[in-house]
Order: sequence, then structure tokens, then C-alpha cells
Amino acid sequence: MRASSEAEACARLEDEAVLNIALDSLLIGVSGFFRDAAVWTALQGRVLPDLARRRPGTIRVLSIACSSGAELYSVAMLLAEARLLHRSELVGVDCRPGALAAARAGLVDAVALETVAPELRDRYFERTGAAWRATGALRHRSTWQLMDATRVLPAGSWDLVLCRNFLMYLRDDIADAVCRRAIASLSPGGLLVLGKAERPPSCSGLTTVSRSIHRSDGA
Ligand SMILES: C[S@@+](CC[C@H](N)C(=O)[O-])C[C@H]1O[C@@H](n2cnc3c(N)ncnc32)[C@H](O)[C@@H]1O
Repeated sequence: MRASSEAEACARLEDEAVLNIALDSLLIGVSGFFRDAAVWTALQGRVLPDLARRRPGTIRVLSIACSSGAELYSVAMLLAEARLLHRSELVGVDCRPGALAAARAGLVDAVALETVAPELRDRYFERTGAAWRATGALRHRSTWQLMDATRVLPAGSWDLVLCRNFLMYLRDDIADAVCRRAIASLSPGGLLVLGKAERPPSCSGLTTVSRSIHRSDGA
């Protein structure tokens, strides 16, 4: 039923179920495995191996605005391929509970997996009827948190932060603040990955190591 005024619409959004329906219909949740292939080639070829050499302990990865998890599961596959998954901790945050439920379940359809090489798909996903499910190895290393990333980020010192195709939808001042918070959450030498159309704020103190991949000072 249509709200008759802005005040009534705001009042209705106090109901969490209504709010979540609104978020699902208003926000763009497009994502995909290994989206923007050049970034993943750089991550796999030199960025993750270099990070692993510098970090003997736990490798901490955060995906901000993770949608239904394809991005974080892509990182998990690369870490598993490099035999680093057992010492990695992966966290995805998004403001849509439905997207996070899908991420947590690790269920994807065959079309979504078309951008995953068949040998990786067969190693890290199992068929369940018409769908596929991420193996326990990927799911058990990943946790998913409901969060408004414009206000707060999970505490921590992150070695790899992916914040892709999110800032571009925000007002400039808010995007700037989120990006600065993401940079502040990096470990010394930690890496920030942005989307193709996104850039870190000027004077952020980051060094660009490859397109869309930036490293904090202290490496
Ligand atoms: C276009 S998707 C990007 C997904 C993924 N990062 C990628 O690049 O493939 C944008 C995501 O941002 C999430 N989002 C929008 N506003 C948010 C907020 N304030 N806090 C957390 N997530 C938000 C949406 O729910 C959506 O899943």
C-alpha cells in the first residue's frame, strides 16, 4: 500500500521487514566471481604471494559491501590455491540480510559460476540439485556481518580490504569518509582493492601497486 506522505513512509521503515524489502529493491547488489579479471590476475600472480611472504601469521581479509559473497569466495579460492586458506580469516559485511544469508549458505546457480574456471568450480563447489554450494573449506573460513558500512566497519587490522563498486554509489563526502576508515583499518603494508571506477582520496598515503590495488605505508 502506498504511503501518503514522507513521514508515513519513514514511519513504515521503522519496521525491519519493510526496511529490508526497501533495501533489496533500492540498492544495487550486482556482483560476480572474479569480477574485473585483471584485478584477480594481479592478486593471484603477485599481490597475495607477496602478502603471504610478509605475513607469517593469520591473513585477515575484509570485503566491504560484499553482496551475496561472490567476491569474498573468489579471494577464498585464490587463498586455497596458494595453500593459505588454513591461516586466513575472511569477513564480509553488507547491509542487506538476504544477501548475507545467501553468502552464508554459499549456494549459487550454475550461471553465476560461469566466470569460475571449471577446475576451480569442481574443487571448491559441490552440486546440490540444480545449484552449487561452496565447500565447507571455503564456508568455514568466512563469516558474514550485517552492518551499515557508511557508519562502522568491523574492528581490526586487515591485510586485504576489498571495497569495490560501493563508494561510487555514495555521496562524495560519505564515500571519502568510508574510504578513509577502510584505509585506517589496514595493517602496515595492507592492501585496499577498489572498483574500476573508484579512486582513493588524495593524500591517502597509499601506493598504487596495480590497477585498483593500493598498499598502505609500512610494507
Ligand atoms: C554493486 S554491489 C558490490 C558487490 C561487490 N563488492 C562487488 O564489487 O562485486 C554493492 C553492495 O553494497 C551494499 N551496500 C549498499 N549500501 C551499504 C551500506 N550502507 N552498508 C553496507 N553495504 C551496503 C549493497 O547491499 C550491495 O550488496
